[in-house]
Order: sequence, then C-alpha cells, then structure tokens
Amino acid sequence: MTQLPNSLRALDQASLIHPQSNLRTRLEEGPTIMTRGNGIFVYDDAGKEYLEAAAGLWCASLGFGVERLAKVAYDQMCKVGYYHIYRDTSNETAIELAAKLLEIAPVPMSKVFFQCSGSEANDTAVKIVWYYWHAMGKPERKKIIGRLHAYHGSTCAASSISGKPDMHFESGLPFNGFLHTEYPNYYRCQQGGESEEEFSSRMAASLEQLILEEGPETVAAFWAEPVMGAGGAVIPPAGYFEKIQAVLQKYDILFVADEVICGFGRTGNMWGSQTFSLKPDMVSCAKALSAGLQPISALMLNERVFQGLMTQSDKVGHLAHGYTYAGHPVTTAVALETLKIYDEMDVVGHVRNVEPTFVAEMTALEDHPLIGEFRGIGLIGALEVVKDKTAREPYPSETNVIGLIGANARKHGLILRLIGNRIAFSPPQIISSAEISEMAKRLKLALDDTYTQVRVN
Ligand SMILES: Cc1ncc(COP(=O)(O)O)c(C=O)c1O
Repeated sequence: MTQLPNSLRALDQASLIHPQSNLRTRLEEGPTIMTRGNGIFVYDDAGKEYLEAAAGLWCASLGFGVERLAKVAYDQMCKVGYYHIYRDTSNETAIELAAKLLEIAPVPMSKVFFQCSGSEANDTAVKIVWYYWHAMGKPERKKIIGRLHAYHGSTCAASSISGKPDMHFESGLPFNGFLHTEYPNYYRCQQGGESEEEFSSRMAASLEQLILEEGPETVAAFWAEPVMGAGGAVIPPAGYFEKIQAVLQKYDILFVADEVICGFGRTGNMWGSQTFSLKPDMVSCAKALSAGLQPISALMLNERVFQGLMTQSDKVGHLAHGYTYAGHPVTTAVALETLKIYDEMDVVGHVRNVEPTFVAEMTALEDHPLIGEFRGIGLIGALEVVKDKTAREPYPSETNVIGLIGANARKHGLILRLIGNRIAFSPPQIISSAEISEMAKRLKLALDDTYTQVRVN
C-alpha cells in the first residue's frame, strides 16, 4: 500500500482534483483549506479570517454556518432520510417546496422539476425544450442559442449552452446546434460612442441576424441569466432584455431564464426576472435555493411547456428522465426552511436596504488608478480593472494584475471572485452595511498594494 502524506495539504495535493483550476499549480502550491464559517466570514486551518465577497460560489446566501438549517437537515434525516419522487411516490417536503416555488415564481409557472445542481436543471431544460417541439410537431426546432461568455453549468449540454471558450477548447463541445450570440458587456463591447440603448439594439439585431441565418424554424430556445454571473457579473444594459425578448417573440422561440445566481433576492427582487422584466417559459434555480447548504436545483416550467411535455409523455409512455436524488427529502426540507428564513428576514427588503451602501462603496473605487468602472445592482456587480481609463485598455495578461489583486486581497482577509479583468461581487445576502464598508476597505488595501507592485515592475 502506498504511504499517504500526513499533512492535510499534502493529502489534498496527492488526492484531489480541484474544478476550474490549473492542475499543475494546484499540485505544486496546494489549497487554502477552510475549516470554519461564521456569518459572512470563513477561517482557514491556520485560523486566518476571510470576508467572503463571493458567497463561496454565489451561493452561501445566509453565510457559512446556519444552525437552524442544520437542525432541519438532522430532523429530516431521522424522519425519512431518503425517499424518491419517481413514478407514483412522493415525499412531503418535495411537495411543499414545489408549491412554494410556484407561489413565488416571477411569472405564472405550472410545475416544478427537481435536480441536484444548476447544471442539471439547465441540462434537463434542454431535453424539455426538445420534447416540447417534438410534441408540437416541429422536431426540426432543435437549436439552442446562448450568449458568449455566459455560464450555465458543466454537464455536456450546459457547457454547450455556455459561451466560455475554455470550456469548449478541445473537448468536442459545444454540441452541434448550440449557438452563441453576443456578449452584452456595454463597457467592454460598445462601439463608436453608441448609447446603451443603441448598444442593446445592436445586440438584439445581432441575435435576429443569427436566427435568420440559421432559419427561425430550426431554433428551439434562448438561454440567459438576468445578470450574467461567471461571464463577469455583467448587468444588462438599458433596454437589452426588452429588445431581446421582442426578437424571441417574433420567432416564437422559448426563453429559459437561468436564475441559478440571480434568484432569491440577489438583484433586489426575489428574482432577476422581476428586476429586468423577463417573461421566461422556464426558470432554472439553485444555489441560494438552499442557501448553498444542500445540493438542490429546481426547474420551473409554464403551462404551455407542461402541456407539450404531457403530450410527449403520452406518446412515449412516460417522461423518460430523472435523478435518484431529485426531490430528496433532506435537500427539499432545507430549501423549504431557507425560503421561510428569507420571508422572516425579508431578504428582498434587506438587499434593497444595503444596496445603496454597496453601490456607493464600490463606485467610490472608480477613483482608484486600477479601476475603470463599477456596475452593480442589489448585491451583485463587478469592477473592471484597466490600465488606461480613457481608452478602457486592460493590462496585458502577462502582468497578471488580476492575480496580484486576488493574492493581495487574501493577505488582507478578503476572498474575491476574479473573472478575466473583472472583480465580481456577490456577498452573502445577510451582509450588513458595516460589513460592506469593511469589504471595500480590505479591497482598497489590496488594490493599493497591487498598484505599488505594478508601478515598481
Ligand atoms: C448562472 C449559472 N447557471 C448554472 C450554474 C451551474 O450550477 P452548478 O454548479 O450547481 O451545476 C452556475 C454555476 O455557477 C451558474 O452561475
């Protein structure tokens, strides 16, 4: 038997694969090991405190240790720790959670389909879209349109909808028929002094051109996050979704809103769809659905889609799709309790109360020589790091400015989500105004250190 290394860090290096990371660097440097959480703070194995400006992976909405949810999980495990919802069986908490989700849905929705992750919710939605168009007698409607730089998950279908080149590189993805329209980042992609409305019109025209080139009769659905998260926390420019939705309606294309990040108060409404007036046919959600404490996702579908799905299940004999842990009693019990907590604390009201502090503190950083722009809404947003503010010119990648900012932030007890040239923020939805100011203070120290290093080199 091989001898295992005795330190936890060495054991990690010897045994774990870390998603979305350079494997060689991880082998050489090892991880930061988090051992404890309290509110919006986490602590590593040396006891160092970090303010988590990204809520982990946009998900720990109630912070990093919630005893009330732990008790619910424990009680549910003792009561009935597992029972599925396949075929003719069900369980209490899955039923109650589905009903609650339909009650708070951003637009009228008919049914809820549970999975265990955001990726699976979007993957499921792809199948449902295809089932739907088959049921409508239009099986040629197969193509799915996502957006460049968007992220919808890591399963093969969800990666295909995603517009991230690194996820497609030499992987055989995206699958045929998965197309991508433009990246709606006004700051980075505006042309020749166009206004935001003009930019949005160009984005919509470009989507329409793609649909016409492909043949509208072959396009099944369009996917979008209300605020594009892993694409850089990009807030949609003025008029964007109004113009995009007009194109979708013109060609009768289904719209799936990916609320995996934006759901549950993140944008200052219960749903990003409400903040940006989206009228989706399906909504995928996860993450803050269980405050990030249990792996659960849900896909809501409207009556139009459900009727199509039913027709198809009649044709095939049943709906040939499902996951063993979908609607799991423990995950649904924890999600149900999470939604209760959101009601009690008025999560939407709280986000709206602290939003002015968040926006003011982050906008003030636009005065920093490294920062070109801040754009945010509710408790989500991003700073764009630039070398030249007037030209909006980024630092060359070899300077690794963004990496330096991340490392300096860790030094000052702050965990940041860095995406390209952007610093994205999605702190836990329980963050207070004072904690937001503390987050900005630590960030400013990191930016100052980085600027000093950049000037020296
Ligand atoms: C918008 C969006 N959709 C889907 C996913 C995938 O969710 P999961 O990692 O739970 O599969 C993510 C993950 O960050 C996401 O941000």
